[in-house]
Amino acid sequence: MRNIPEHFQINSQGHLEVSGCDTIELARKFGTPLYVLDETRIRQNCRDYVAGLAEGYPDTQVCYAGKAFLCRAICCLMQQEGLGLDVVSGGELFTALKAGFPPEDIYFHGNNKSRQELEFALQSGVGCLVIDGLHEVELLAGLTRATGTEKRQRVLLRLAPGVEPHTHVYTQTGQEDSKFGLAINGGQALAGVKAVLNSPHLELTGFHVHIGSQILDLASYGVTAGILARFLAEVRAETGFTAKVLNLGGGLGIRYTRDDKLLPVREAAGRIGQMVREVFSPLDYPWPKLVLEPGRSIVGDAGVTLYTIGNIKTIPGIRKYVMVDGGMPDNPRVALYQAVYEAVIANKAGRPAKEAVTVAGKTCESGDILIRDIPLAVPESGDILAVFSTGAYTYSMASNYNRLPRPAVVLVANGQGDLIVARETYEQIVANDLVPPRLCAEEPREAAEG
Ligand SMILES: Cc1ncc(COP(=O)(O)O)c(C=O)c1O
Repeated sequence: MRNIPEHFQINSQGHLEVSGCDTIELARKFGTPLYVLDETRIRQNCRDYVAGLAEGYPDTQVCYAGKAFLCRAICCLMQQEGLGLDVVSGGELFTALKAGFPPEDIYFHGNNKSRQELEFALQSGVGCLVIDGLHEVELLAGLTRATGTEKRQRVLLRLAPGVEPHTHVYTQTGQEDSKFGLAINGGQALAGVKAVLNSPHLELTGFHVHIGSQILDLASYGVTAGILARFLAEVRAETGFTAKVLNLGGGLGIRYTRDDKLLPVREAAGRIGQMVREVFSPLDYPWPKLVLEPGRSIVGDAGVTLYTIGNIKTIPGIRKYVMVDGGMPDNPRVALYQAVYEAVIANKAGRPAKEAVTVAGKTCESGDILIRDIPLAVPESGDILAVFSTGAYTYSMASNYNRLPRPAVVLVANGQGDLIVARETYEQIVANDLVPPRLCAEEPREAAEG
């Protein structure tokens, strides 16, 4: 059985290859740790989403959730693929605008957007703000009034539908006990609708939910659509408002290990569309436009991280530690979510996995373990380890813990690898450090002389 994902190959040298690029060559050229993203796969995922969703439902839009991985090149790629963009902070919005992404195709999310961020979004002309609470309605009303423009800002209202999908508790977001959105149960959501409808500067176009991430069982989407349809009917009866947009968020899972069972993207998107259609078909309600905003399932399986193996420590009868030149700072998901990854030794990709080892990162944390008990070909110092499915929530969550520079990101397609994010330098790491004069070694001496 192949121990590598379907879109990777093993070349004649026995090296792992992605979109025509030898990963060992990439490691040599760009150094390690290195995030490698397969452009072909990302584009395919985008196209499968757009086509699949349209097969399931008549009026659709797919937006890429930038929090999974964002840089200017990715914004350009998403624009080329015709996707909208979901941003969640001033920094993400700035990145998108710098890349020339059309502001009207941007949805701005966030459970605690600052006044500055909201001002920035309004001035930039973002297509839609996703309001997360009554505090924001008030902030926005004040800001839009202050700009004095006649134009109403289009908004969606984020709802907490009370759905708990089967995923890690930290990645569930649609349950009632959540910091996100206004709860449908108990009337907060309805109060939110009335507040927005009463604001002369806001134009409510519909509703948003995001129930969680790494969801493998699609039934939760159908349940959510049912709850929303009932809420829509209630809102119309109470206020006369008819929703034009229903944004079901992202959340579709990807295959991290062979145990993860899931539908291909096109089928999954089609199934979600179909479930929403089935919910609305019997209702006397105009079908809203259906928006999905996937992140992980667009870039996740397109990514592979390359590390160089250094120290190898065997504790007889207990465990063999294989240590790599990165770890928790470039991939905090293991520590955060107990995420499980698969990997191969890229320069021995064709060889059988002979022994179970534990892959440890290089930071001063015992918890900095990337993969536990994974069977690998016999590892040696200098080998390149390739960890699969690292395209989402790795670079975007990376830190400089231990003052490790963040790795570079390379986009590969048809045998060509291009840097899309340069490796951070030590100079950049100290660039924001400031030293008050009283801490400089010379000063006390000078003072003493004086
Ligand atoms: C509002 C919203 N939309 C979309 C996403 C993307 O989710 P995923 O990457 O699981 O598809 C998230 C992730 O947290 C989110 O919070």
